[in-house]
Amino acid sequence: MTDHGEQLRSRRAFLRFLAGSPLLASLGLTACMRETGTAGFGASTGSGQGGAGALDGLLGEAISSAARALDVFDFKTAAAQRLPPAHYGYLATGVDGEATLRANREGFERLFLRPRRLVDVTELDTTTTLFGVDWETPIVLAPAGSQRAFHPDAELASARAARAKRHLQILSTVTSTPVEDVVDARGEPVWYQLYPTSRWPVTQALLRRVEDAGCPVVALTVDMPAPSNRETVERYRRLDDRDCTACHPAPDVAMRNKPMYRGTEMTGVADFFASGLTWDFVARLRDATDMKVVLKGIVTREDAGRCLENGVDGIIVSNHGGRAEESGRGTIESLPEVVEAVGGAIPIMIDGGFRRGTDVFKALALGANAICIGRPYLWGLGAFGQPGVEKVLDILRAELETVMRLMGAPTLKGIGSSFVGET
Ligand code: FNR
Repeated sequence: MTDHGEQLRSRRAFLRFLAGSPLLASLGLTACMRETGTAGFGASTGSGQGGAGALDGLLGEAISSAARALDVFDFKTAAAQRLPPAHYGYLATGVDGEATLRANREGFERLFLRPRRLVDVTELDTTTTLFGVDWETPIVLAPAGSQRAFHPDAELASARAARAKRHLQILSTVTSTPVEDVVDARGEPVWYQLYPTSRWPVTQALLRRVEDAGCPVVALTVDMPAPSNRETVERYRRLDDRDCTACHPAPDVAMRNKPMYRGTEMTGVADFFASGLTWDFVARLRDATDMKVVLKGIVTREDAGRCLENGVDGIIVSNHGGRAEESGRGTIESLPEVVEAVGGAIPIMIDGGFRRGTDVFKALALGANAICIGRPYLWGLGAFGQPGVEKVLDILRAELETVMRLMGAPTLKGIGSSFVGET
């Protein structure tokens, strides 16, 4: 083995030791380490992660207010310290050994940027257009369920932040706040993410309800036909010694009580996972609604092609933030083949591991029309509520503008594939 190989091996052993440390676990930090990955851990190379050496960042003081954050990772530390362990575990978890969660970050590290000099970047145009609507930023709030686990204001805080900062928001099927209230807080209809239950009448009821609320787009999540193996959330649960039964009734009851399932034929958890889902469902969905239909969870050229054949209006390249299958592949690595298969016919969005303006820039260069963030705004929400989400959005927008200026790319639409290379 080379010296470098030895170094990596001993660093990994050291990390494994730290990851098993009860001290870090009790601080809610082992998952932070897992997601941060080993590459930047105390390494001088950095890794597009937190600005400080990763150990300093993890063990340092959490920020005391949203205004003090320098990057989105500052909110991660703060959320880990403020949230009950079980709730933080739900936020942080990937699946199995979390290879996919790590791959979502590491994929960005294999891409480098190719700047152009002597370009006037005084004025920037960061506008992107989705289904005829202009958004002044391509950064979108991904759907995330049960946000009351992170803050009492839950999805309303996210909606108010999205409104204040003028971002598109996608609301989860399993929102802890009804769609009508979220639309009210957002000030305009949000997109609605649909989990396909095994009961069509439930789907129909959801469609009617979100249509009535004015939602223009339904994003069907297709990557969760069965439960995934989320070990980290289970480990965190074991650290939580609170009596959770006061807030969490039995799973079937909890499922039926979700605001969007109330009054529907939903019976419980068994209905939630639509393991019989096929492309027929997509055709049925298209026939059942006038909303635009976007598929969330597409990661291959084969499925992208089938999206076109089935009249899908848009794609979100996603592996559910490393919470569905343990593919070991980052979404940024899946993006080029999806873009190639789609050939510009429909808009492509992407999520998974976006933490920096440079990450956003790389996805735009590879052909994405917009990118979604999940955990970063949830860290902001968990740490400080609405001001936390707003600051996360501010930081990412500022970082994107910085990289656009320094890359000599003043317009978002002008960011093409020649701006990136692969190591
Ligand atoms: C999610 N995600 C998700 N996706 C979805 O389609 N419906 C949902 O209800 C949820 N819920 C959810 C909760 C939490 C706590 C997380 C972290 C994620 C996945 C989400 O939409 C998105 O795909 C990922 O979060 C993107 O990856 P990052 O940004 O978290 O790395």
